[in-house]
Amino acid sequence: QPLIVAIDGPAGAGKSTVAKLVAGSLGVPYLDTGALYRALALFLDARGIPPVECDALYSALQEVSLEITEKEILLEGKNVGAEIRTPRIDTVVSAYASLPMVRNRLLDLQREQGKRKGLVADGRDMATVVFPDARVKIFLTASDEERARRRFLELRERKENARYEDVLEQIRERDRADSSRSTAPLRKADDAVELSTDGLTIGEVTGSVLALVRE
Ligand code: C5P
Repeated sequence: QPLIVAIDGPAGAGKSTVAKLVAGSLGVPYLDTGALYRALALFLDARGIPPVECDALYSALQEVSLEITEKEILLEGKNVGAEIRTPRIDTVVSAYASLPMVRNRLLDLQREQGKRKGLVADGRDMATVVFPDARVKIFLTASDEERARRRFLELRERKENARYEDVLEQIRERDRADSSRSTAPLRKADDAVELSTDGLTIGEVTGSVLALVRE
């Protein structure tokens, strides 16, 4: 059985940083499922297709080409790593991600990735829906302020204009949307271990996750 490590949690809890390091240390691929939802949101938003289940949405989801390679996610054959991490996509992604049509489009794609070499995957429903049999399930959290601070610094590094207060409000809004949707809401799986990352270094959190994997 290939090793699957599922990491869920709210925005900015440090999931992707930790998941990448854990994957590197274990020598298994890393899967950023948020990037898949972001790529679909980018595609649909650019075409003016609103986040409601309708024929136009259905056709677009049938047509769109989305590929996962070792290093990047290709939308219509193009690396969209930068375009999917803008404030615009931050704002619209949750509405698209709440739609069962959108989630279904990504289900097999995600599961397929783990079949050969296993993986470390991060998202909102890794442990609850996509990989319910994962060997290790982690729910990463941090205070709202800490998560907003991290996202704010990240945006500044990318030269995106942002105010801390707006980032904080937006992160709260996105978590509200992700937790309250009826399909695959953000929640800790009953058998997941909750880790708060407040005041811990990335190294400490990564170490804790690796210890759980090696238990
Ligand atoms: O992890 P990231 O912040 O990039 O995720 C962007 C958005 O994609 C989340 O706010 C959520 O709406 C959606 N998402 C999801 N399920 C996942 C991963 C992400 O609904 N497994």
